[in-house]
Amino acid sequence: MRQLKVAVIGCGNVAPVHLAAATTNPSAQLIAVCDTKEERAKKASQKYGAPYYTDYNEVLALKPDLIHVCTPHHRHAEITIAAANKGIHTLTEKPMAVTLHDADRMIQAARDQNVTLGVIFQNRYNLSSLAVKEAVTSGALGKVLGGRLFVTWLRDDEYYSKSDWKGTWDMEGGGVLIDQAIHTMDLMQWIMGPIDSLEGSIRNRTHDIIHVEDVAEATVFFKNGAIGSLYACNFYSYDADVFLEVHGENGVARLEKDKAVIRIKGLPEKVVYAEGDREVIGKSYWGVSHKIQIDEFYADVLANRPVKIDGVVGRKALEFVRAIYYSGTHDGELVQFPFAEPKGFTPPSLTRR
Ligand SMILES: NC(=O)c1ccc[n+]([C@@H]2O[C@H](COP(=O)([O-])OP(=O)(O)OC[C@H]3O[C@@H](n4cnc5c(N)ncnc54)[C@H](O)[C@@H]3O)[C@@H](O)[C@H]2O)c1
Repeated sequence: MRQLKVAVIGCGNVAPVHLAAATTNPSAQLIAVCDTKEERAKKASQKYGAPYYTDYNEVLALKPDLIHVCTPHHRHAEITIAAANKGIHTLTEKPMAVTLHDADRMIQAARDQNVTLGVIFQNRYNLSSLAVKEAVTSGALGKVLGGRLFVTWLRDDEYYSKSDWKGTWDMEGGGVLIDQAIHTMDLMQWIMGPIDSLEGSIRNRTHDIIHVEDVAEATVFFKNGAIGSLYACNFYSYDADVFLEVHGENGVARLEKDKAVIRIKGLPEKVVYAEGDREVIGKSYWGVSHKIQIDEFYADVLANRPVKIDGVVGRKALEFVRAIYYSGTHDGELVQFPFAEPKGFTPPSLTRR
């Protein structure tokens, strides 16, 4: 069996789920780990048994078949494009980039070099998410009328003080939307269908040490006529269960954290859990499906097949986020999709108010 030579760039919080998948999949051989912080790279090297590097260019020079990008958001584009230019496939963590311009450069580089670009949105693989999607696409829910999304978590000043890149426009690319809510926003637009337009607002209500949004609201108009409501904040008193509900003419399909509840007129209520009997790797609030997406990515690359969540698909969630940033800093202006993000658009610094 042909084995993919893989490397993991960035050995912080999320890296263990990638490293665990890379070292347990028989189709992959981990040939390098890399972090600019040497002690992190060294620790990962000792635990997962691959040499370590502190410069990703040295890793690319080893000619891996594929790299996992687990770095801060502003590095995703640079590393992915450098890899593509050397003929190396990339699986990058969400969000694929900080701006749509960078996302487009990544997509173009992968196309030009004929390599695969995948973006992690592991929650699409949860059995609960799939059940809600199926309730819509099968027609069981009937015409989709509306939807609502709530992500109300807690990321306080202490959380931000521990990171050298979070809570910034240039490195994280924002706050609660681009980091925490993006997963559920991805599910909302995947399940409810393409977005036609939206109006949004963003504020920093509680944080002194960051100048990005800690709360966002939006009214989302879908092409199928449904209207969605979004509320996300990271100053709630705890990490409340993520909530996404789709309302159709025949009933409702709802995700509550890792459980789907589907109620359709005339049918018994259906409950589906995210993991089924799958093995859980990584923190539970990240979901259970990283390994499933990574295994599928390896299999698709080996078979030279398109991947489900490629750059174009991964870009949609970023477009959703960036459109709210634009509307939220332009008096709630209605933003039409596709969102023609002005080149160089960066929201202004948001002080607490
Ligand atoms: N899918 C999920 O559920 C999930 C969960 C957590 C984090 N993430 C994503 O994973 C990515 C990393 O997040 P994290 O929480 O692990 O961050 P982190 O800060 O804990 O780790 C990032 C690591 O990258 C290293 N790094 C920075 N620049 C580098 C470079 N040029 N080359 C090599 N290493 C470099 C840093 O030193 C750090 O150790 C982000 O995109 C984040 O949004 C996804």
